[in-house]
Amino acid sequence: MSHTFQKIEAVLLPTAIQYTPEGSDPKAVIHQWIHAIASDYPLFAEHQGICKEHLIEILKLSNLYKDKVTFKKKLPSTPIKPAIKSTFTFIDLFAGIGGTRLGFQKNGGTCVFTSEFEKNAQQTYFENYGDYPFGDITKIYVKNIPDHDVLVAGFPCQPFSHAGLKKGIDDTRGTLFHNISNILKDKQPKFALLENVKGLISHDKGHTLQVILRTLISIGYNCNIDHEIITRGSLKQLQTEAKKMVLKSVDFGVPQNRQRIYIVLWKNIDLKQFEYPAAINTDTNVGSVLIDNPDPKYTISDRLWEGHQRRKIDNAKNGKGFGFGIVNKDSLYTNTISARYYKDGSEILIEQEDKNPRKLTPREAARLQGFPDEFLPNKSDVQAYKQFGNSVTVPVIVELAKQISFQLKKNTHDIA
Ligand SMILES: C[S@@+](CC[C@H](N)C(=O)[O-])C[C@H]1O[C@@H](n2cnc3c(N)ncnc32)[C@H](O)[C@@H]1O
Repeated sequence: MSHTFQKIEAVLLPTAIQYTPEGSDPKAVIHQWIHAIASDYPLFAEHQGICKEHLIEILKLSNLYKDKVTFKKKLPSTPIKPAIKSTFTFIDLFAGIGGTRLGFQKNGGTCVFTSEFEKNAQQTYFENYGDYPFGDITKIYVKNIPDHDVLVAGFPCQPFSHAGLKKGIDDTRGTLFHNISNILKDKQPKFALLENVKGLISHDKGHTLQVILRTLISIGYNCNIDHEIITRGSLKQLQTEAKKMVLKSVDFGVPQNRQRIYIVLWKNIDLKQFEYPAAINTDTNVGSVLIDNPDPKYTISDRLWEGHQRRKIDNAKNGKGFGFGIVNKDSLYTNTISARYYKDGSEILIEQEDKNPRKLTPREAARLQGFPDEFLPNKSDVQAYKQFGNSVTVPVIVELAKQISFQLKKNTHDIA
């Protein structure tokens, strides 16, 4: 990081501390402010009275601001570049390492606010995008979040109470989904993309999904499922419709068997049905993500390999799952990479000639999620595996974001 950038951070620190939410680092506020000044989007906490003119005055007193163009040049260069031509804004919640951000940035989106509370993920995020995420979303005052066109969130799946179910948004109190719906209710972005495991559809026999969708329509959002089915249909009907929102990574040029639900929502947009992207590239194999000459440290030990094989036999005897998954360069796809991959690599092992199989390297794990090679994985292998396992498949998000950005543009033109 350049000396000038560090000076900018130091000069803004005393003011930023006053606006830093509990659970966040002042760096998050400073970086949001710096990027907002360099570009044309609102500041975090404008609602509380902070304004660009005041911050620019502070910077000018230390000779750190002349005009927007020269100020922009003081920002550090990052491996992942911002959108060349910004056409809409978005916020990145439960951001992890920003897999979702990548897809939206590629389609002209500018990220105006990020929240992720895990320290190692925050560090990876900062190193790649140049801004440090805010922390715990439950501690962020909604009105301080800048206005935006799209909200994206890959949130943890939590059960809801079975009592009530009449009060709409209040029924979800105490869950992270409640925080998302509160932001949607207050900020009313035109689109939202909620990503989750496919298991959300069957979670609590469909009740969780039903509460989520009922809440969202109660605050004015639409999705591809008819309101009638959401409010009065059976759980089975709802689940059948929700399955149409599931996309497979293998359909988007990535050799991984990963299925996720992508709930696209919109409000105040002239749109009847959102067109989910069709398969674009199914012609892929595991060889496309493998590197040449991986470090021998990724070859698993005799002990681990024997353990995997023993468990596979035991599982077969007890009628339980398959145990480890082994592939080679010609395999069409791997199992889903999960956040637990660092533990023993059992879900994805790569065959090797005359040797025990090996784990994926972090770069291969990155490619298996469609991250570009410019992306810098966390320096710790354990953290890198956790972060890629938790992340999204970038090319799937790219296609969804393309369609969302198209609809946003179309709507702006329709209005104009
Ligand atoms: C499934 S991951 C999403 C990953 C992200 N889509 C990506 O591309 O890397 C969910 C993330 O939510 C974060 N998280 C969970 N609770 C949170 C909270 N209260 N505030 C902020 N982040 C939270 C977790 O640390 C985790 O990284």
